[in-house]
Amino acid sequence: MEQLEKAWAGRRVLVTGGLGFIGSNLARALVERSADVVLVDSLIPEYGGNLFNVAGIEDRVRVNISDVRDPHSLRHLVQDREVIFNLAGQTSHMDSMADPVTDLEINCVAQLRLLEVCRHHNPGVKIVFASTRQIYGKPDYLPVDEKHLLRPTDVNGINKMAGEWYHILYNNVYGLRSTALRLTNTFGPRMRVKDARQTFLGVWIRAAVEGRAFEVWGGEQLRDFTYVDDCVDALLAAADAKAVDGGIFNLGGDRVISLKDLADLVVAANGSGSYAIKSFPPERKKIDIGDYYATDAKFRQATGWRPRVPLDEALRRSIAFYRENLPHYL
Ligand SMILES: NC(=O)c1ccc[n+]([C@@H]2O[C@H](COP(=O)([O-])OP(=O)(O)OC[C@H]3O[C@@H](n4cnc5c(N)ncnc54)[C@H](O)[C@@H]3O)[C@@H](O)[C@H]2O)c1
Repeated sequence: MEQLEKAWAGRRVLVTGGLGFIGSNLARALVERSADVVLVDSLIPEYGGNLFNVAGIEDRVRVNISDVRDPHSLRHLVQDREVIFNLAGQTSHMDSMADPVTDLEINCVAQLRLLEVCRHHNPGVKIVFASTRQIYGKPDYLPVDEKHLLRPTDVNGINKMAGEWYHILYNNVYGLRSTALRLTNTFGPRMRVKDARQTFLGVWIRAAVEGRAFEVWGGEQLRDFTYVDDCVDALLAAADAKAVDGGIFNLGGDRVISLKDLADLVVAANGSGSYAIKSFPPERKKIDIGDYYATDAKFRQATGWRPRVPLDEALRRSIAFYRENLPHYL
């Protein structure tokens, strides 16, 4: 731990999407390690950004409320940074279908702009990009490895796929150092629980904490889940390991579980609660990917990372957080 803290102390870091769920948890980890942290976030209300996410560390980070679609602020933000965690994104699959051009602008065009600014003004920077399992679409085989065909089932998946590949292209052609992590369902404190834009698990946990029943659509689908602290560890490991430059890696979790069994774990972790199994709403069925779980052996091998928090403990920690802080997320 001491060694880790030393490695990050004073390092100049930018987190795009830094007031969001994963970005703010990462910011906390970086502050603990005494890094010099700048967060940029647009705080668009439908997305996961929330100023409360940095409560308690606000005087140890610099927060810049701006939009990564704005090329003028980007240069200023990027030019002296040693590491960029590029997490800003439109994350809702349904919103990407309702408003595909906004998704394109944020998840694709702004990503390309950021890379261009780095190429011209900070070519030595290391970038870790938060990609997504969504780009695989419906898996042909399980567990999904990085060689699996990419066949996104929604606009968000297509734009994230292009965003990911711009990062790899700029690594290969221009010598920026970038790594893409294909995150699976990530959850934990500071996720959006207001609605299902970020994850259905947020809605379940909110309902459990409020003493309401929640709905499980289908129930038999298999999934893997990453607890946010493990995701943060992976992002830090990706920034540090030279061996992962130019690489694309899956992240998974500590086990594979059906949604129905997950619902039972939520109820158990909450100490009470109930749910109803419902059939999938038709508009969601069209973009659903069925069973999905990944192998992240390639990333484990390259970095030594592995998930440390078991799923039931992760759910307990998340529920405890929302018991205390729910009003800030409604
Ligand atoms: N949470 C997951 O399960 C998951 C899974 C796969 C991939 N990811 C990826 O991880 C990244 C972080 O996701 P998250 O779960 O923390 O979501 P989030 O919505 O909480 O975080 C994204 C942040 O980006 C900000 N943002 C969006 N558009 C912006 C813009 N134009 N300019 C500046 N800031 C902008 C939002 O305000 C938000 O704070 C995203 O890129 C997402 O695609 C997340």
